[in-house]
Order: sequence, then C-alpha cells, then structure tokens
Amino acid sequence: MKELRGRTALITGASRGLGLAVAKGLAREGMNLVLAARSRELLDELATELRSLGIRALVVPTDVADEAQLKSLVDTALAEFGVIDVLVNNAGIEAFCPFDVIEPQEIVRTIQVNLISALLLARFVLPSMLKAGRGHIVNMASTAGKSGPAFGAAYGASKAGMIAMTQSLRVELHKTGVSASAICPGFATDGGVYEIVKKRAGRGTPWYLGSTSAEAVARAVVKSIRNNRPELIVNFPALRPVFVLCQAFPTIGEWIVRVTTRRYLKMAADRKK
Ligand SMILES: NC(=O)c1ccc[n+]([C@@H]2O[C@H](COP(=O)([O-])OP(=O)(O)OC[C@H]3O[C@@H](n4cnc5c(N)ncnc54)[C@H](OP(=O)(O)O)[C@@H]3O)[C@@H](O)[C@H]2O)c1
Repeated sequence: MKELRGRTALITGASRGLGLAVAKGLAREGMNLVLAARSRELLDELATELRSLGIRALVVPTDVADEAQLKSLVDTALAEFGVIDVLVNNAGIEAFCPFDVIEPQEIVRTIQVNLISALLLARFVLPSMLKAGRGHIVNMASTAGKSGPAFGAAYGASKAGMIAMTQSLRVELHKTGVSASAICPGFATDGGVYEIVKKRAGRGTPWYLGSTSAEAVARAVVKSIRNNRPELIVNFPALRPVFVLCQAFPTIGEWIVRVTTRRYLKMAADRKK
C-alpha cells in the first residue's frame, strides 16, 4: 500500500511503548487512527496530540484478551471510518520466567494477549479488507519468535506464532490486495517491556546482542506496509545471519544463541529481584 495519507489504521497497545511510537509514526504519514488499549486516559491524551497533526483519531478502550471486546473494536472502527486499511497487532506482554515455576495461568494469558488476540482481530477485519480489495496486517512479533529464548518459552511461542500467522496469510491472500508483515524488534532501549527485563537483570543487554529503538520500530512498520515486506528484523547489529545459521545448521546456531543469550536472560528471568 503505497499511499497512506487519508487511510485508516487500527493499532492495539497504542497507550505506551512501541505502540505509541507506531501510532505517532502512522499519524505523521497522514493516517487516521483507531487507538486501542485498556488505559483510556493515556489513549485520550495521545489522540488529542495526534489530532493536532490534522488526522482523525478514535479511542476505543479494549482488553484484547476478551473476544467480544475485539469484535466490538472492529465494529466501532468500521462504523466510524467505513474501512480499516491497516491493522497493527501490537498489544503484548512479556513472560520471562524459569519454565518449571511459571504460573500456568501466565502461560495461557501470554498466548491469549500476544497471539490469540492477533489471530482474532485479523479474522474480524479480513472480510472488510477483502471487500475493499486492499489492506495490510502488521504483526508485532520479536526476535524471540525467530529463535526461542531461554526462560521465554511462552513468550517465544507467542511470537513464533505471529510469524507463522503472517506467513500463512501472505500466501493465502496473494493477489487479493491484502497482505501481512511481521516486525521482529530486538530489545528496544527506550521503554516498553525491555524496561522490565533490564530492571530484573540489573543491566542492559551485552553489546553483541545489540538493541533497537521505538522510533526504528515505527519506521519499520511504515516500510513494511509501503513495500509489502514479509518480515523485518529491527536490531543493531543485524541478527538475520544468526537466524539463517540456526535454520541451516541448527546445532551450531543453537550453540551461538545459548552462549550469547542464556546468562543475560537468566538474570532477566529472576523475579525475586
Ligand atoms: N520493547 C521491546 O523491547 C520489544 C521487543 C520485541 C517485541 N516487542 C513487542 O512489542 C509490543 C509492544 O511492547 P512494548 O515494549 O511497547 O510494551 P509496553 O510498553 O508494556 O506496552 C504494551 C502495550 O500493550 C497493551 N496491552 C497489554 N495488555 C493488554 C490487554 N490485555 N488489552 C489491551 N492492550 C494491552 C498496553 O496497554 P494497556 O496496559 O493500556 O492495556 C500497552 O499499550 C509487544 O507485543 C511486545 O511483545 C517489544
């Protein structure tokens, strides 16, 4: 979708962190926005700021773990704008914890909030996108979905699920005018779930794991929609060569991932801190 100005994007998890940066990035492109999350006041504040850029912004307080609220979010957005051109499935929670002690309910909630909500929202917006003959679904995955991290089995599974979902939709929807992209950020140093990880670890990531920023993620979202990119890994230094190695030579790839990440993630998963 080359032209974004005047089109409508629905974004979940827009109240803070990466979602807030993505909302601002899409507003700068001239898109009208439907802002969803649970924190109404934060969304109202953001909507007021974004309207000063000359766009329309609708706030729809939503708990993405609730199917009825997801359906109502899409219905409300369609009633207001007639069409949803872009869906950004961004709402998410982290769940780093040793797997022998993680609460079963936390596993269920992580998959519900991170993955099931994205699948359901895509299902609910797709008929209207197909009818319009255009649309793009952006799934905020993670590098954790490219290679499952130690102490992050539930989180990694939810993000790998988002990547698989994106791949399925792209092949299924080829030539319909509707497509999808997966964004895989590394640790974003300016807020968001990484703050929790960093606080528990007592320090930032080692230099060789690198990081990213919310601004870089927002730029990647715009690029993925404009250029219909399947998957963008947003991190410096580039991590794709490591993931290619993991695919081609799983034993060597796993060794590299273990040696470079396990110690840091063990500290980050320690909830006693
Ligand atoms: N930050 C990173 O380093 C990083 C790296 C890779 C991927 N990601 C992914 O990027 C996405 C955004 O993360 P972030 O770092 O920006 O996290 P964040 O600052 O904690 O923001 C999470 C957003 O999701 C919303 N959310 C959480 N649970 C929700 C629920 N049940 N219903 C509706 N909204 C809900 C929150 O809004 P309310 O609390 O107001 O509901 C908030 O807007 C997540 O999917 C995350 O996995 C982040």
